[in-house]
Amino acid sequence: MSILVTGGAGFIGSNFVLDWLAQSDETVINLDLLTYAGNLQNLSDLEGDARHVFVKGDIGDTDLVSRLLEEHRPRAIINFAAESHVDRSILGPEEFIQTNILGAFRLLESARAWWGKLERDERKNFRFLHVSTDEVYGTLEVDEPAFTENHPYQPNSPYSASKAASDHLVRSYFHTYGLPVVTTNCSNNYGPYHFPEKLIPLVIHNALAGKALPIYGDGQQVRDWLYVTDHCSAIRRVLEAGSLGETYNVGGWNEKPNIEVVRTLCDMLDELQPREDGASYREQITFVKDRPGHDRRYAIDARKLERELGWKPAETFETGIRKTVAWYLANQDWVNNVTSGQYRDWVEAQYQ
Ligand code: NAD
Ligand code: DAU
Repeated sequence: MSILVTGGAGFIGSNFVLDWLAQSDETVINLDLLTYAGNLQNLSDLEGDARHVFVKGDIGDTDLVSRLLEEHRPRAIINFAAESHVDRSILGPEEFIQTNILGAFRLLESARAWWGKLERDERKNFRFLHVSTDEVYGTLEVDEPAFTENHPYQPNSPYSASKAASDHLVRSYFHTYGLPVVTTNCSNNYGPYHFPEKLIPLVIHNALAGKALPIYGDGQQVRDWLYVTDHCSAIRRVLEAGSLGETYNVGGWNEKPNIEVVRTLCDMLDELQPREDGASYREQITFVKDRPGHDRRYAIDARKLERELGWKPAETFETGIRKTVAWYLANQDWVNNVTSGQYRDWVEAQYQ
């Protein structure tokens, strides 16, 4: 038995693969294009492990995907592969359209063609799990209830629009062709192997490097944070027991304004790795110009997943953020390796 994971060298994908193989002997075929966000170093613990088969390639390469499906006959495809960073989608949306829409479409087509040829039992048990985001729902006012699965889609960035398009395609393959799909819409993740372009790892990285900690706008935008292994356990649960054609919100019940997250990180670093001059890392906080179209608030109502499938997050924000800061302090080599020339070009373009 095997599963096909796409984007399994990225932040959430690599955590998922490591987590999966820590509790199952079922082989993972890991298809990843190794863009700037994909890093095989995340999976170095699996070197020589026959249960992990890495293939460098594009989800939009129909010949390659069809060959992998024929060869390995996975019982499920879990699609993490995407361009995932909102700010990059604002500077250059094209790759987001290419991978998140066209790539997802081609992956669905490969899956449909292969699934159509399966024998009855294999056909019945097959799953296509699409990993999506809460950003497709748009933004909330401070006093609005959290997003449920029935909230209208109102994406506000090229990134969220491209994810919304892929969610719609996935839905349509269920209703039109009967492809056995399930979709998860998750809130902001954090944890090990998070690329330092995103808020939490960027702030840890900049703090230790003595650089400014950039807060967009007034810093009062709210995100709902989930520790990455909780997202992995939710995906496993939905894969196991989710109803076909359904969508499931995944969230941590951890709404925090950005400025509070950054102050927490500063205080934790003050405790675990104090600045040489004895001052607080809070002194490095710098307010910068806002992100265009910046969504004010995300909040996930994850009660459906809890009620129907019995899933709950294991970590609180307090336990998860401490683990995360400790991981970054212990893994500075990883950070140094990913903050290469390409990374520095990005920082220059974004924060000039
Ligand atoms: P990431 O950017 O860290 O990783 C994406 C991975 O996909 C990389 O390894 C990259 O090499 C690979 N990839 C990109 N284009 C590809 C292609 N055409 N073919 C094959 N591989 C390709 O992203 P992430 O943060 O790990 O997010 C994973 C998924 O989860 C995405 O679909 C994202 O939309 C979704 N998601 C992310 C979050 C979050 O907070 N990070 C929250 C909810 C949902
Ligand atoms: O909600 C789920 C989404 O969370 C995922 O779908 C995306 O893939 C993921 O990147 C994330 O999107 P965000 O835009 O919320 O994450 P990011 O870490 O980029 O930003 C978090 C918040 O912090 C957001 O309000 C913007 C703000 N921010 C971000 C950066 C990088 C800053 O204030 N300063 C910064 O330098």
